[in-house]
Amino acid sequence: MRIKPQKSFCTMLTPPPDKSVTIRALVMGWLSKGTTVVSNPLISGDTISAINAVTALGGEVDFVGGELHISGGRSEDGRVDAGNSATTARLFAGAAAGRVSASFTGDGSLKRRSMRPLIDALSKMGACISCSGGGYMPFEIKKSRLSGIDLMMTEPSAQIKSAVLLAGLCAEGETRVTEAVRTRTHTEDMLPLFGADICVKDGTIIVRRSELVGTKIDVAGDISSAAYPMALALMRGYCFIKNVGTARRELIDFFKGIGGDIEEENFGDRANLIVRQSSLTPFTVRGALATALIDELPLLAVIACTLSGESRIEDARALRGKECDRIKCTVASLRALGANIEETSDGMIIHGGGIKGGNAVTYGDHRLAMSLAVANALSEKGGFIDDEKCVEISYPSFWELFI
Ligand code: S3P
Repeated sequence: MRIKPQKSFCTMLTPPPDKSVTIRALVMGWLSKGTTVVSNPLISGDTISAINAVTALGGEVDFVGGELHISGGRSEDGRVDAGNSATTARLFAGAAAGRVSASFTGDGSLKRRSMRPLIDALSKMGACISCSGGGYMPFEIKKSRLSGIDLMMTEPSAQIKSAVLLAGLCAEGETRVTEAVRTRTHTEDMLPLFGADICVKDGTIIVRRSELVGTKIDVAGDISSAAYPMALALMRGYCFIKNVGTARRELIDFFKGIGGDIEEENFGDRANLIVRQSSLTPFTVRGALATALIDELPLLAVIACTLSGESRIEDARALRGKECDRIKCTVASLRALGANIEETSDGMIIHGGGIKGGNAVTYGDHRLAMSLAVANALSEKGGFIDDEKCVEISYPSFWELFI
């Protein structure tokens, strides 16, 4: 795919529906009695993996007039292939432990991502998990009785938190999760809609054994996908972005904080955004903000490369365990495009000064591919993206931004 240097960017769009919310609706739909109806679901590589997980575990998913209709059902010895989706693997493993026996595997990228924290947390609850690969997929879960635990999460992970909460729904006693650094709250926000006995007290999430009941979920646009047109508009023009979910609104506030001209029309848990070309200042992202913006950090590194002055990304070690090592690969790919950027143990130092452009290596990682496409669009001479198909994981219509 060739990306030309983009002199101006002016468009109106609706971003793809939220991936995290669509996957959670599927796993909670599988756990529920009755039917769960999901309107505006994301249909992409990762959510197809989640749909396949539902059917592998004995549930049913129908497409009806653009909606997903999900019903539960239990098959013993289901084989879940989570493809590229760690969210699917970890959330369905949490939901399955204590309910069914099943095996879990994934693609080459997912097999390189550690499942150790997941296996350790679920095992503490009494889950019976065998994993010959020392904490890497494939692994097998044998149905067993679970008991609640009191988990203090020192390493931030919404996926591990969610897996434990979903397992807690069929555990004896209370399951309590406290996070040192808060991660996305979709699981604890959505579970009450399915009738779960869950509450948050003094920062601890407490869940008790519950029977979920199917409900209706309408999925808002994914801020992590909206991030790419937002970046292009901030650097090159204007964009009207409709129906963006604001449950994770840190990116909007971050862009505003570094000088971004963003107008919001808020309605409930979503907003329309009007994003205009702005003069952005170099920045540092660290601490809780690095966790909140974890999926957007490769894109923020790209933006930082175009600014004049030094920017830093710190406290982002979790990036090393994503679809690829997103610290190492982002730095290597951006350096190959002529950017002045260095790797640190937990982030990057970006010296700014512009991007020349060239052949971009994506390592098969959807977010790296999209970030590098933006890098080439903002570069002097443009360039090529080596693997255009990988964007289908989260943003199948991504390349339309460059038509
Ligand atoms: C996600 C959680 C995050 C994020 C991922 C989606 C989720 O991962 O990077 O893309 O839907 O729960 P962590 O669990 O590592 O925080």
